[in-house]
Amino acid sequence: MQWQQQLDLQHLNTFHIQAFATEYAYIETLTDITEAIQYAQKKQHSLRILGGGSNVLLTQDIKDLLLINRLQGIELVYEDEEVIHLQCMSGEAWHDCVMWAVQRGYGGIENLSLIPGTAGAAPIQNIGAYGVECKDVLLRLSAINLQDASLHEFTAADCRFGYRDSIFKQEARNQYFIVSITLRLQKKPTYHLDYGNIREELTAQGVETLSVKAVSDAVMSIRRRKLPDPAKIGNAGSFFKNPVISQGYYQELKTKFPSMPSFVSGHEVKIPAAWLIEFCGWKGFREGDYGVHTQQALCLVNYNQAKGTQILELSTRIMDAVLAQFNIQLEREVNIW
Ligand code: EPU
Repeated sequence: MQWQQQLDLQHLNTFHIQAFATEYAYIETLTDITEAIQYAQKKQHSLRILGGGSNVLLTQDIKDLLLINRLQGIELVYEDEEVIHLQCMSGEAWHDCVMWAVQRGYGGIENLSLIPGTAGAAPIQNIGAYGVECKDVLLRLSAINLQDASLHEFTAADCRFGYRDSIFKQEARNQYFIVSITLRLQKKPTYHLDYGNIREELTAQGVETLSVKAVSDAVMSIRRRKLPDPAKIGNAGSFFKNPVISQGYYQELKTKFPSMPSFVSGHEVKIPAAWLIEFCGWKGFREGDYGVHTQQALCLVNYNQAKGTQILELSTRIMDAVLAQFNIQLEREVNIW
């Protein structure tokens, strides 16, 4: 493993923000991680891990030692009549893992097609879309502790998953390098078609016999229509989480704003942040090179050469507006670096 200096990160983050990493290395093996930990201790520097760069907003240069995850490998590690266990090394693109399963007809992650980012990042924020979350399929993961280089195994319960949340965003934040994840996939899939317009999309595509591939194709075409393609417009997917409010407050708001959509979430109610933001007039907003996507108000976008600080400031303005209008405090989903 070689340490190198001054890397322009513009092509390594989906917002396409320009910022530099002072010192960095590519991680291709587990030994690279151990060496990086020793080096960081010797230099008394912190380590920072970059996966697909699809959930970060760079607002400054990175002075920590940056590890760029290139751990590769997708492997079937167990199989019986009902299920397979699929082990994905953390540096693999999540979507490539989904395509591996879809092409072989194994069910469970087809609704999570086309989500940018690496397999290793998937459990950190418990990625989710169209009624399925990473926690529904994750069996276990292995991770190296960044303090003492020890290898640990986490079961799904150990990960303490919540909505876009896990132990790796809470008490174990920045403490581990996730090495691989193992998913439990079904040979006789149960499809999740009740979210949004998946059924309509399947009908529109003329699908008569359901398959993992048909559902994946439907999800991809919905995503391509609604979400900005990071290859064309810089963005990091949903910038905010959907807020969860009490039943009591929901009733109060619903009287004032009868058209407000909502989803039951346990004893509470989840409100689409996109609706709140759109109601406040921000959808399609553009100032210089930064703005709010025209089709999905949850996505902040970089049209060309926006600075991370400008997008951060825009997010604060949006949060202030939603707070003033609805007395709801939005929370950022994207990590601010
Ligand atoms: N809506 C608006 N305005 C908009 C967009 C949506 O009012 O501009 C309203 C509509 O009423 C719609 C509702 O919001 O019915 C929900 O919209 P959508 O189904 O597009 O989902 P979302 O709640 O905005 C969440 C995830 C997405 C995921 C979709 C589909 C979060 C923070 N976001 O968005 O995840 O793809 O559901 O399951 O939970 C991501 O995390 O990066 C991401 C893209």
